[in-house]
Amino acid sequence: MRHFLRDDDLTPEEQARVLDLAAELKAAPFSARPLEGPRSVAMVFDKPTLRTQVSFAAGIAELGGSPMLVEGRLAGIGVRESVEDVARVLGRQVALVVWRTFAQADLELMAEHAGVPVVNALTDEFHPCQVVADLLTVRERKGTLAGLTVAFLGDTACNMGNSWLLAGATAGMHVRVSGPEGYQPGREMFERAAEIGAGTGGSATSVDGPVAAVTGADVVVTDTWVSMGKEDEEAARTEVFGPWSLTPELMAAAAPDAIAMHCLPAYRGKEIAAEVIDGPQSVVWDEAENRRHAQKAVLAFLLDEAVRP
Ligand code: NVA
Repeated sequence: MRHFLRDDDLTPEEQARVLDLAAELKAAPFSARPLEGPRSVAMVFDKPTLRTQVSFAAGIAELGGSPMLVEGRLAGIGVRESVEDVARVLGRQVALVVWRTFAQADLELMAEHAGVPVVNALTDEFHPCQVVADLLTVRERKGTLAGLTVAFLGDTACNMGNSWLLAGATAGMHVRVSGPEGYQPGREMFERAAEIGAGTGGSATSVDGPVAAVTGADVVVTDTWVSMGKEDEEAARTEVFGPWSLTPELMAAAAPDAIAMHCLPAYRGKEIAAEVIDGPQSVVWDEAENRRHAQKAVLAFLLDEAVRP
């Protein structure tokens, strides 16, 4: 049984296949109907959501299926009953489980016991569906992925930083991350990205200072300084992240045709200036739209793999 729990669950060939399928589904939204029936897909949220809920719900419907919203607070996963028992119950009802939660370990437990494919809709550690959508967006703008340089600024220790390291290396990109001390991805993320990059030509490096990180970059990415679950650290974070704010001056150090990315929600004047997110180099609305196309491709891929002998 295949799952999509972290970015390196897809090999480079599989990532390319998913991106090709996403582009096909974007051009012809109803051309794949693997959930015809309709079969149901459980979408479980333990953290706030807008894009993820609507893009999965719309995408599941376009695949012929029925999206089922499971309210995390009511289900009480790990509180009212164990992750393993919830997994066993969900797996008897639905074709796939999509879960946004805190601990990656809980998501792994769900995958171990559900008996159906499980998809990471964001954990503290990874946000792989977002980065598939982002890669689709970069490919649309640049025509290719391999060899491009991506600079990820700010809270590089968050789910998006980790996901960009692994997914970018899988795509053969050069990923530079830059953030304040104490907000860096773990060493194991760089090691894993280097291992993947050895096969794809990609690389992952930590760069001191935002200017060095963005210089000549093709893609500049940032994310909120205060991820969901970190709200009580807001004051301390705001104090140290200032120099990594994606301003027009920083964007000017990137390649002249660089694009600016943000997975949203965005806080203008903090991690990104209004002139950048609302300016001509921003591709954030394409990223948001591409969540649907990318996730449809991921679900179709997993369903296809599930029926292989
Ligand atoms: N790093 C952010 C991503 C939001 C989509 C968070 O976890 O809140």
